[in-house]
Amino acid sequence: MRVKIAASILSADFARLAEDIKRVESAGVDLLHIDVMDAHFVPNMTIGPPVVKCIRKETKLPLEAHLMVDKPEWFVEEMAKAGVDIVTIHVESTSRPLSLVNRIRKLGVKPGVSINPATKVNRVTRLLDDVDIVLVMTVNPGFGAQRFMLETLPKITAVRRSLFSRGLDNVDVAVDGGVNVKTAPLAVKAGATMLVAGSAIYGSNNVAKAVKDLRRSVEGVYWKP
Ligand code: DX5
Ligand code: ZN
Repeated sequence: MRVKIAASILSADFARLAEDIKRVESAGVDLLHIDVMDAHFVPNMTIGPPVVKCIRKETKLPLEAHLMVDKPEWFVEEMAKAGVDIVTIHVESTSRPLSLVNRIRKLGVKPGVSINPATKVNRVTRLLDDVDIVLVMTVNPGFGAQRFMLETLPKITAVRRSLFSRGLDNVDVAVDGGVNVKTAPLAVKAGATMLVAGSAIYGSNNVAKAVKDLRRSVEGVYWKP
């Protein structure tokens, strides 16, 4: 399976968002990762549905809304209406993740589920049949440009193994936080199939080269069951 690259716009210039999105689109990223933060679930605040709606008009790339909010159930409908393709919720943010995942699916959107570095993989095990993405946080969510937490690598493997043993080959294992040319191969070797990168892409003055370098860093790197 070819590793997918998602550009996180958290590190983009929000005053020049359309331009910055076009840059990663021409660089050949597979999707756009939009970090939605509410200053409750994480100590930072970003953007919500109205901005996502505007982003939708600017790109053909699939959009993933990564909801780092306390009440994800308040936002899934709005995000679907705004035109996202994937809504990823945090298992820590809701007491009924399965019903929320099913609701997202009913809205015609692919559901994803995410776990923080401190959250055990068994919290997502019963959701694996019902999601399209498992997003393993490799930093504590809230901010870009943090260091990749190596201690999350065994969790990536545990998720990939569970999916493999159930024949769920189409579910992506995404990693988010501190992904760069050094950490991407480690994540892919551990089982990641999707790389979310913000500062490694937008922090470079040559976005196209940064995406190419990231892709090249995982060429020939595979997870072995
Ligand atoms: C962090 C966000 C990430 C962030 C990653 O809370 O969920 O998507 O943009 O940024 P980098 O790639 O800079 O670590
Ligand atoms: Zn994210």
